[in-house]
Amino acid sequence: MKILRLVTSFRGNDSQSFQLGNTVVEMIKAQYKNADIITRNLAKNEMPHFNDVHFTSFITPVENLSDELKNAVSHSDKAVKELIDSDIIVIDVPMYNFSIPSSLKAWIDHIVRAGVTFRYTENGVEGLVQNKKVYLAIASGGIYSEGPMKEYDLTEKYIKNILGFIGITDVTAFRVEGVAIPGIKESAMSKAVQIVENTFSL
Ligand SMILES: Cc1cc2nc3c(=O)[nH]c(=O)nc-3n(C[C@H](O)[C@H](O)[C@H](O)COP(=O)(O)O)c2cc1C
Repeated sequence: MKILRLVTSFRGNDSQSFQLGNTVVEMIKAQYKNADIITRNLAKNEMPHFNDVHFTSFITPVENLSDELKNAVSHSDKAVKELIDSDIIVIDVPMYNFSIPSSLKAWIDHIVRAGVTFRYTENGVEGLVQNKKVYLAIASGGIYSEGPMKEYDLTEKYIKNILGFIGITDVTAFRVEGVAIPGIKESAMSKAVQIVENTFSL
C-alpha cells in the first residue's frame, strides 16, 4: 500500500491541517502495517508557478523537447508518477482566502495534464487516474461545512471537482473548523480527530 502525503501549510507542527492529516495517516498505518509513505511538503519545496514554458512542454512531443522544455516538464512527470504510483493520497489543506494554498494549486496545475491524467473522447472528458482513495484534512478559522459561510468554501468542492476530472472520485474530507473562533477552537481538533477515528473504525 503506497501513500502519498501532501503537506501544504507553512506552519509546520503547529499546523492544524498537518495535525489532522497526521491522524489520518496514523489510521491508515494501523490498517496497512506495511504502508509505504512518501511525504511532499509543497509549502517548503514549492512547485513552480505554472507558466507558458510548462504549458509548451505539455503540448510538445517528447522527441521534440528542448533542454528547457525537458526541465519544465520534469516537475509534472515526477508529480504525476508519484500520484499514479500511490494507492492512497492524503492532502492537508489550510483554507486561505476561502480557497486552497497556491502551493497546492501549483501541484494541481502540474498534474492535470491532457493525454496523461485525462483525455478528451467522443463522449467527453475521461479521467485517467483510476483506483485511488483520497483523504482531505482541511483546516479553517471559520466554519464552512454548515451555516451562513457554506457558500464561501472553495476548498472541498474545488478539490473534489478537479480530482474527479482526472478520475479520482473516492474522496473523503475531514475538517477542523472554527480554529479562530473562541469557544469553538478549544475543542475543534478533538472533534475532528473523533470523526476521523469513527470513520476508520467503521
Ligand atoms: C493567508 C491566510 C488566509 C486565511 N484565510 C482564511 C479564510 O478565508 N477563512 C478562514 O476561515 N480562515 C482563514 N485563515 C485561517 C486558516 O484557515 C487557519 O489558521 C488554519 O488553521 C490554517 O491551516 P494550518 O493551521 O494548517 O496552517 C487564513 C489564514 C491565512 C494565513
